[in-house]
Amino acid sequence: MFKKLAITAVAALTLMAGGALASEGGKMHDVDFSFEGPFGKFDQMQLQRGLQIYTEVCSACHGLKFVPIRTIGDEGGPALPEDQVRAYAAQMDIYDPELEDDRPRTPADHFPASGDPNAPDLSLMAKARAGFHGPYGSGMSQLFNGIGGPEYIVAILTGYTGNEKEEAGTTYYENTAFPGGWIAMSPPLAGEDVEFADGHSNELHHESEDVASFLMWTAEPKMMARQHTGFVAVLFLTILSVLLYLTNKRIWAPVKKKAKEA
Ligand code: HEC
Repeated sequence: MFKKLAITAVAALTLMAGGALASEGGKMHDVDFSFEGPFGKFDQMQLQRGLQIYTEVCSACHGLKFVPIRTIGDEGGPALPEDQVRAYAAQMDIYDPELEDDRPRTPADHFPASGDPNAPDLSLMAKARAGFHGPYGSGMSQLFNGIGGPEYIVAILTGYTGNEKEEAGTTYYENTAFPGGWIAMSPPLAGEDVEFADGHSNELHHESEDVASFLMWTAEPKMMARQHTGFVAVLFLTILSVLLYLTNKRIWAPVKKKAKEA
């Protein structure tokens, strides 16, 4: 009975892994992000660099309207000191209906919405595209290769081929990661777009990973806590299962013995 179950499980896993490989378009590369795995953690310095790239480059078009500004001061996030959070917020204006005028934002306000109506809000992008490993993404790849959303963002940012075309007045840029192969976003990063205070490399792939990591955090700021809870839950269930199995054996032992004697 047990053997049969084990064989079935192995067979199912093999099939699933096969599916994962098949769905891999060869356009997405697995990135070893610090936050993956049950003990993964966001890298605070990386989140700060990602915030800087978002602020200096992406925010020209993309909003983060679901993210309260104060959260960039949170532990487990970019964890900027309070005065810096306040200064960051104050750089951005917001229309206040009570004042009937613009005023500087405070940490209690959210990031602005997208300035470019064609640019999607990025607050939840890393989750919206999770498991998206190419147009044939079945979700299996997500299971085996990690979250997927941040990898997708890295792949978009590094996937430009340099070809352009114009259609109905819009310029499209060839991109190996974007479904359909042509995206309406001009290449936002070329490498060396920002200067980091910590002197970290600003090569294209580093910048891409930093901003992708930051966008994973905006989409799921409590991921670490959730992963840890999940791990403890699985551990607990495993121990409980073993105990129940042993208890079960104990309870039925006298009956089995009698049955044998009879
Ligand atoms: C000049 C404006 C502009 C800038 C700057 C810009 N984007 Fe975009 N972005 C767009 C537009 C427009 C789209 C929609 C493209 C489309 O649907 O073809 C887009 C789409 C996206 C998408 C969504 C792809 C999808 O699957 O729908 C991601 C992710 C993205 N941008 C990330 C970024 C990041 C990260 C930065 C900063 C490094 C950035 N963008 C900078 C205009 C911009």
